[in-house]
Amino acid sequence: MSETQASDVQISDPRPCIDPNPLSPYVAWAGNRNKDPILSVFNGIFPKTGSVLELASGAGLHINYFAPHFPEIRFQPSDKDLSVFESIKAKRAEAANKNISDPIAIDLTDETTWPDPKDGLYDAIFVINIFQVAPVSIAEGIAALGAKILKPEGFIAIYGPFTLNGKPTTPSNLAFDGELRATAVPDWHLKDIGDLEQAANKHGLALKQRFDMPVNNFILQFARA
Ligand SMILES: C[S@@+](CC[C@H](N)C(=O)[O-])C[C@H]1O[C@@H](n2cnc3c(N)ncnc32)[C@H](O)[C@@H]1O
Repeated sequence: MSETQASDVQISDPRPCIDPNPLSPYVAWAGNRNKDPILSVFNGIFPKTGSVLELASGAGLHINYFAPHFPEIRFQPSDKDLSVFESIKAKRAEAANKNISDPIAIDLTDETTWPDPKDGLYDAIFVINIFQVAPVSIAEGIAALGAKILKPEGFIAIYGPFTLNGKPTTPSNLAFDGELRATAVPDWHLKDIGDLEQAANKHGLALKQRFDMPVNNFILQFARA
């Protein structure tokens, strides 16, 4: 496993209240702040051509921002929440993006909703900011789905804030974890990179690269072991 440092960015916009609703001002604020650093990493790891699946696409901010930078890639948005599909399609129309398919329903906790590998395999799968507000068991779903529908050289890229060896990596991540826990919603807290690795290992995947991102986030790149 290697480690890479992404370039730093200046973040000045005031942060709205934490709200995991994918159409909330908070999620839009987070997306606008992380989309360029994530794109700079994806520029280095995405193939030139192929197909890429986004899990938990939410409002569709990221997929619509990334797609024009990879014109030979077909992007597939998805979410378990069908009510976000209109937003994904509206952003696609606004940006005149031609390489984004209609969103599909994928619930990471329900295998019956997963795409059939017979319909095509993916070069890459990415997922952004789901773990802070979802159970760590979601990692099992991501790994099992990846093992099923990734091409042999394919990979999964997971972006978010995580703890490392059970500890927040910085005082600001410790504070963020405290804020999430203060809500008393059982699944709202930072998850540990080790737990994601364990889930991946169960499905024949391994952590290949860890990118240290601005404001104490990570991109974790998993591929077949
Ligand atoms: C905080 S939003 C992040 C949305 C988007 N990735 C972003 O960064 O703007 C979390 C998203 O995860 C989705 N989600 C939660 N549980 C899921 C599951 N079990 N399977 C698939 N998507 C799920 C939600 O519907 C929501 O769109």
